[in-house]
Amino acid sequence: MGEDATTRRKDAHLDLVTSQEVEPSAPRTLLDCVHLVHCAMPELSLDEVDTSAELFGKRLSLPLVITAMTGGTERAGAVNRELASLAERHAVAFGVGSQRAMAEAGERAASFRVRDVAPSAVVIGNIGVRQAAELGVDGVRRLSEAIGADGMALHLNPAQELIQPEGDRDFRGGYQLTAALAKAYGDRLLVKETGCGLSPEVARRLVDCGVRALDVSGLGGTSFLRVEQLRASGAAAEVGVQLAGWGIPTAASVASVRRAVGPGVKLIASGGIRTGLEAAKAVALGADLAGMALPLLRALNAGGSEAAAQALEVFSSVLRRALLLTGSRSLAELRKRPVVLTGELKAWLAAL
Ligand SMILES: Cc1cc2nc3c(=O)[nH]c(=O)nc-3n(C[C@H](O)[C@H](O)[C@H](O)COP(=O)(O)O)c2cc1C
Repeated sequence: MGEDATTRRKDAHLDLVTSQEVEPSAPRTLLDCVHLVHCAMPELSLDEVDTSAELFGKRLSLPLVITAMTGGTERAGAVNRELASLAERHAVAFGVGSQRAMAEAGERAASFRVRDVAPSAVVIGNIGVRQAAELGVDGVRRLSEAIGADGMALHLNPAQELIQPEGDRDFRGGYQLTAALAKAYGDRLLVKETGCGLSPEVARRLVDCGVRALDVSGLGGTSFLRVEQLRASGAAAEVGVQLAGWGIPTAASVASVRRAVGPGVKLIASGGIRTGLEAAKAVALGADLAGMALPLLRALNAGGSEAAAQALEVFSSVLRRALLLTGSRSLAELRKRPVVLTGELKAWLAAL
């Protein structure tokens, strides 16, 4: 597989996120400002608690998406295959990383193809809004068809681009392109951020363009501003330092977006979701599913597929217990339970 700037950058990201601190302890997701209410008499057996969810017409046993990370090199291809087969075994969804590398050189497609190890899992393609504009609707469709994806994610990352010395500087025309993609893809289009969150205003405009699935990817988890700052030097690195912490905390993004778009839109809560309890809080705030990227990559890196499987099992056990302890038989029931919101999150939600 040929190397160039795109694939070198993707491998540098894999190195940095597994060896450096890229999840600053502040700012936070603000999920610590969300409290579920304990039910001392649940009148349920743990076995009957149903954690299943639906995405792109398929049933998942857990409301979880392993969100987009990588592709384009042999090493990235190995990560994709491990995580996709994990998704298949646990009936969760899996997203490949940006298919830009594949659009630039077709021979790199193999590193994004996971259908042989994940024949029935929900697989999600991925492309940035700028590359999608260059490729057009048919070009994006070819990327998705080439990997047999169930849905296609369009990622938004203006803050990251602005820190990359080689990144984009012109972000005009995004809604027009999104509307064209939504027309072509219908419910199969997902629009996601990459760690800075979606505001209710952007979410509402995306829904007006026809988008029916959103992943907030809020502030508080992997910080791409931090990753790019580590890759940069001189003035570019300093710009990264001074913008670090930019974004909408995940809890504020999920709750305000749900309020803005109503019940008909599939909403994924990601960005700093690390436990089944945090996923339960996100569901109680209105999310349909949670998403997680870095923790599973790190588990895989540290202890192979067994460690990644164990991380998923713990996530599932804690989520199931959180449902039982709130007296909820299903995610729909959890969504109707009261939640106590405190501190900074209340201030965000009062303003958004
Ligand atoms: C190594 C790495 C590479 C990523 N590459 C992409 C990408 O190509 N496309 C994308 O939409 N998001 C990408 N993301 C963002 C994740 O999908 C996710 O939105 C973000 O990391 C927040 O989730 P987390 O805190 O659970 O890691 C990447 C994340 C990581 C850690």
